[in-house]
Formats: sequence, C-alpha cells, structure tokens
Amino acid sequence: MPSVTGLEGVIAAETAISLVDGENGRLLYRGFEAKDLAIHYSFEEVAYLLLYGTLPSEEELEHFSLKLKKSRDIPDHIISIINLLPKDTGMMSVLRTAVSSLGDSSFDWKPDVNQAIQVIAIIPTIIAYRHHSINRTDFPKPKNTLDHVANYLYMLNGELPSSTHVKSLSTYMILTLEHGMNASTFSARAVLSTESDLISAITGAIGSMKGPLHGGAPSEVIAMLDEIGTIENTEEWLRSKLENKEKIMGFGHRIYKTHDPRSVALKKVSQELSGQDPWLDLALHVEEMSIRLLDEYKPGRKLYTNVEFYAAAVMRAVNMPAELFTPTFTASRVVGWTAHLLEQAENNRIFRPQSKYVGPTE
Ligand code: ACO
Repeated sequence: MPSVTGLEGVIAAETAISLVDGENGRLLYRGFEAKDLAIHYSFEEVAYLLLYGTLPSEEELEHFSLKLKKSRDIPDHIISIINLLPKDTGMMSVLRTAVSSLGDSSFDWKPDVNQAIQVIAIIPTIIAYRHHSINRTDFPKPKNTLDHVANYLYMLNGELPSSTHVKSLSTYMILTLEHGMNASTFSARAVLSTESDLISAITGAIGSMKGPLHGGAPSEVIAMLDEIGTIENTEEWLRSKLENKEKIMGFGHRIYKTHDPRSVALKKVSQELSGQDPWLDLALHVEEMSIRLLDEYKPGRKLYTNVEFYAAAVMRAVNMPAELFTPTFTASRVVGWTAHLLEQAENNRIFRPQSKYVGPTE
C-alpha cells in the first residue's frame, strides 16, 4: 500500500463558497444553511448566491433568469455530434462530449459569469435531447415560460410538471449544487489553474463526476431496497451483508461524522412527497435498522445516511429514470464548479503538487 493516499486532509485552496462542517452536520452556502435555502429559495436564487456571493434583488433575479433562458438551446453542431455517438454511449459520456464541443474561443481565459451561465443553462437541454433521441420520442424544445427546474422536467416528460415535483426536484438540486473540494471540483480547479478555459475545466469535472466513487448513484439504493423487498426481510438481509463485510449503500461519508444535513432535508421532502408509499416505509425501516446494525458491527465509525439514500426516494417520486440520476446531479453541481472556477481565476496559481518517488535510483 502506498503511504500517500488520496490527498486526505490536504487543503488545496481557500474558498468563500461553501463550508462543509462534518463534525456538526452543517452545510453552508456563502454563510447560509443550504437546507434553509432549499426550502425557501428557488434554484435560480441559490445559483446566483453561489456565483455572485449575495442573494439577488428582484431585478437581478429577473435578469439572471432571463440570461439562463436565453442560453438553453443546443447549437446545431452539438445536436449533430450527439446523434453521431453510438447508442450505447452512457449519458455521462454524452454530456462530457457535448459540453466539450461547446468550447469555442468565446470561452477562452479568463472565465466570467456569462460563460458560467451558458454552461449551467445548456446541460439540462443536452440531457433531455439525448434522452428523447435514444428513446425515439419527441424532444420538447425548452419552454421559456418555465424556470430552470420546471423546464428540465418539462423537457424530459413532454408535459407541464406538477408544482410538487418541481419543488421536490429543486430541493434536491439546491442541496447538491455545491460541496467544497470534492473530486470533481478539485479536477475543475486544477484544469483551470493552468489558465486553460472554463469548458475544458467543466469537461474534466464531468469526467470526474462519472466515476462511481463520486457521482455514485442513488440507483444503487433503489436496487438495494428492491432486493430487501419487505420490512420483515430487512434485518436478516442487512446482517448477511455486514457479516460478509459488504457496504450498505447510502450510508457513510468521508467528511460527515454525524447526520448528513442534505439527507435530513431530503428525508423530509420524500416523506411529504410520498405520503403513505410502502416503498418509503421500507426505506425508513432500512435506515433505522442499518444505523442500529452499523453501530453493532462498526462501533465508533459514526455511520449515518448520506445524500444518496433519500435522493433515491425523491428521484423515484418525481419519476426520474435511474440512468438520469448522476446526470441530474451534474446539472446541479455545475453551479458549484463554475463558482469555484470564477474564484480560482481571481487569485490563480497553477496547481502543482509533488509525488514521492519510490522507484529505483540507479
Ligand atoms: N456500510 C458498512 N460499513 C461502512 C460503510 C457502509 N456504508 N461505510 C463505511 N463503513 C465502514 C468501513 O468498512 C470502515 O470500517 P473499518 O474501520 O472496519 O475498516 C469504516 O466504516 C470507515 O469507512 P471508509 O470506507 O474507510 O470511509 P471512507 O471515508 O473512505 O468512505 C464512503 C466513505 C465511500 C462514502 C463509504 O462510507 C461508502 O462506501 N459508503 C457506501 C457507498 C455510498 O453510499 N456512496 C455514496 C457516498 S455520497 C456521495 O458520494 C455523493
């Protein structure tokens, strides 16, 4: 085993964008509790906060929303590129390729907020376009009377979404907009630090997000609950996994050593959304039993649900297909990435760590 692993504990940059307080289970965006923002503010308002550092006035919000709406359409060359990709190309690879091809000279150094808005606006349209082209269904063009999240649901389903679905998905998206120096944000900042362009940095971040250790997938939680099947089966199923030293999906986190505040907020949303859904009853039971058994099998490790556990419930309740879970996470996290790129550009120094040579010297 190499003695230097994963940059754990290394501070790579100073940031004023978010605070991830793992000991106390708090997540702050620019000083505001993310869970409060998710309840009381819109996607546009919180994206503005992350990008500009303050909540918008009414006029600023209107201007920002309009700019997002104007950048939703996919250019023809990207449609051609998407259509050339083999059918079995996964959505994250499609997204990485399509976003990369946005990068003409208008995106050259130095990144600015208008570049950020363009890439934030177009990602949901790319996902929806590909979703329809692969399923041979009609792609409904972006609807400019709808806000960002409502328009995403509209483009996916071809019908006006209910206000409950919009609120639920926007809560999830706000809670996942930003999360400190995670792997994809680090990738984005490292690329930009060479004074490369914003699109190259976002392309790198999408590649990083694609890996199962990061973008993960709440779909694994859904698969786990499907396998458990019934409340009666839960304890035996969980014990057999833990006896075999397998992980319970949706539990544990590198930073949070108490309840992940995003999970707490999403649990509330899914309870409001799903009412008496037996699937949710099972999820609640699995959470309770897992915490008890994890404490028995892994005492002192402080393992609780992470963001993925109840994200699965919210995604399921808004009828999001499983293959779009990680792309949807990407559609929100791109806001955090671009906020970090603007911050990096303001006080840039090339990222250039060292490696410890352990090979032969002669
Ligand atoms: N189930 C059972 N045991 C667990 C779990 C779990 N979900 N998570 C951690 N542990 C145990 C480990 O086996 C380890 O035990 P040990 O001390 O006996 O070796 C101890 O707790 C510490 O765990 P690590 O894996 O070292 O913690 P790390 O910080 O490296 O990993 C991670 C965090 C990857 C999230 C891990 O908890 C995990 O694999 N969870 C399950 C998968 C999951 O839910 N992923 C989504 C993460 S959220 C996100 O990425 C957006």
